[in-house]
Amino acid sequence: QPAGNIQVTENSFIKKLQSSGRRLVVFYGSQTGTGEEFAGRLAKEGVRYKMKGMVADPEECDMEELTQLKNIENSLAVFCVATYGEGDPTDNAMEFFEWLKNGEPDLSGLNYAVFGLGNKTYKHYNSVAIYMDKRLEELGATRVHELGLGDDDANIEDDFITWKEKFWPSVCSRFNIESAGEEELVRQFRLLRHAPGELPDTQVFTGEMARLNSLHTQRPPFDAKNPFLAEIKVNRELHKGGDRSCLHVELDISGSKMRYEAGDHVAIYPTNDSALVERLGQLCGASLDDVFSLINTDTDSSKKHPFPCPTSYRTALSHYVEITALPRTHILRELAEYCTDEEDKKKMLLMSTNSTEGKALYQSFVAEAARHVAAILEDVPSCRPPLDHLCELLPRLQPRYYSISSSPKLHPDTVHVTAVVVQYATPTGRVNKGVTTTWLAQRRPAPGAPAPKVPIYIRKSQFRLPLQPQTPIIMVGPGTGLAPFRGFLQERAAARAAGRPTGEALLYFGCRHKDQDYIYQEELEEFERNGDVQLKLAFSRDQPEKVYVTHLLQRDLAQLWDLLGNQNAHFYICGDAKNMAVDVRNLVLRAVRECGGRSEAEAQQFLKRLESMKKYSADVWS
Ligand code: FAD
Ligand code: 2AM
Repeated sequence: QPAGNIQVTENSFIKKLQSSGRRLVVFYGSQTGTGEEFAGRLAKEGVRYKMKGMVADPEECDMEELTQLKNIENSLAVFCVATYGEGDPTDNAMEFFEWLKNGEPDLSGLNYAVFGLGNKTYKHYNSVAIYMDKRLEELGATRVHELGLGDDDANIEDDFITWKEKFWPSVCSRFNIESAGEEELVRQFRLLRHAPGELPDTQVFTGEMARLNSLHTQRPPFDAKNPFLAEIKVNRELHKGGDRSCLHVELDISGSKMRYEAGDHVAIYPTNDSALVERLGQLCGASLDDVFSLINTDTDSSKKHPFPCPTSYRTALSHYVEITALPRTHILRELAEYCTDEEDKKKMLLMSTNSTEGKALYQSFVAEAARHVAAILEDVPSCRPPLDHLCELLPRLQPRYYSISSSPKLHPDTVHVTAVVVQYATPTGRVNKGVTTTWLAQRRPAPGAPAPKVPIYIRKSQFRLPLQPQTPIIMVGPGTGLAPFRGFLQERAAARAAGRPTGEALLYFGCRHKDQDYIYQEELEEFERNGDVQLKLAFSRDQPEKVYVTHLLQRDLAQLWDLLGNQNAHFYICGDAKNMAVDVRNLVLRAVRECGGRSEAEAQQFLKRLESMKKYSADVWS
């Protein structure tokens, strides 16, 4: 082995590859788990192609070792990386990204491939993956297969398997691997059952993210692995009519040492619906209070368990796995093995293939019908997987983010959330419920009862008011897009109350009906009376033709240009990423062109400059 001269460090992925006889390493940049899941699937499949693989978190690795990976013969590094926000890498890939961007490492001899996870709704679609793919080549590395781009707005699973199907032949031809082995379904984790009473209660996880008992004996600092259990002080309905619900929730953070600023996000760890948990237990014929551990069969992996173990099935299904997400094709492939009826099995197998027919069936049976795993088991009646295998296959339950709708100037001890409850009827006659919002809706404080609690942490954002309250601001936030602007307005009002001069503030808000979903109406009107804001309201369904915030902006283009071009205003947009954010951006460009007298290219440049100076900021989600 010419690998003798490799210098290893504590975080050496090369050492791990060598000691376990592997040559494929799949790095992931993942925020919500999908990148990590895809990386895991690639690493696992490698066995079929004589490329035993390993998954690695760039944050935990000495990434400079990439310069030495060539010393392992026929080695390959794959990067499954997501793009977030304003074209940013995920937190765990940030440092690696900066190193690639700013350093000049010699990566000659490194074989690589990149798959990106992005969302076409956002402006910087997959920019991290696109840059990484190009940059690795510039630094001398050899691309083994062309860049793959996944679009979460369409069908990212489809994009991934389509890419993967061509990726493996490229790998085989590059490394002269003659034939792929038979597809072999091997479980990554083995089941260890714990007899009743075998373990003391204190050693069984009950929903903690990392440290046993961490939800009882709370110790700061609080973060994703160690969330703070916040009391719900207030939980009230904001809608005055209609059949939808929007919650105003106040979370107590006193004593947590957590601080926030207007514009930050709070992450909430939800609990799955107990009825659905029961139903899954029934469908899999399991007793939910049994305690078990899942143990990685790959002893070299740094991930010993898929989620905190030992734990009970009830806890796993309630706190650790996503049971309402639509299952991806690899899950259906594995579940097919548990069908006792040949027709059922054929159907599940077909849906997990990349064929036109298979994709169409997946599209109609899973995607369009919005069947989660319990619905699939109900409608494919001979499919009865053991619950431990199902727990292994389902993705980890992710926290959901909310734009904080308060200001610490007014509410230093509480964080406010404004969340619309997700609930929709599916074509099969079921009602699907959003995990977090449905759970939150049920957690109302009642007099005399202990306050309900939710695990949270605060995530800093770049969405910030200008330093000077004198700087004019334009805010566009229809629906729950209003959330951070409530915080901004509280902040401005506090500045004014403290005697500081404040600049003009315009708020474009829209909802369906003035008397139903005009959230925070009284507060907004009070801000307006006090001179803290000028309200621009669009009630889309109160008249025959739709009126949106975009229609109002269109009317105000000259004022918009005056504020942006002459008065140094900051522009903010929050809410729906899909249509609204794109339309608003185009209108700003139009104002710059038509009222600012710029060409199309100049307008684009103008907006780019605003963005780089943080004078045009978006906080949008889909
Ligand atoms: P989930 O269980 O996650 O279900 C939601 C999923 O259900 C959707 O992603 C979609 O796939 C599916 N779905 C929903 N409706 C339908 C339908 N009609 N047909 C088919 N499928 C459907 N939300 C707020 O309300 N307020 C905020 O301030 C806010 N701020 C955010 C800030 C950021 C940075 C981000 C990323 C998101 C923000 N969100 C906000 C969205 C929030 O994080 C959650 O996504 C949302 O509350 C739903 O969570 P849930 O767990 O209730 O639903
Ligand atoms: P609609 O539901 O009547 O279409 C908050 O969701 C408000 O934003 C609603 O009044 C909604 O109107 C409106 N809305 C929908 N699409 C929009 C878009 N592309 N731009 C601005 N507002 C939009």
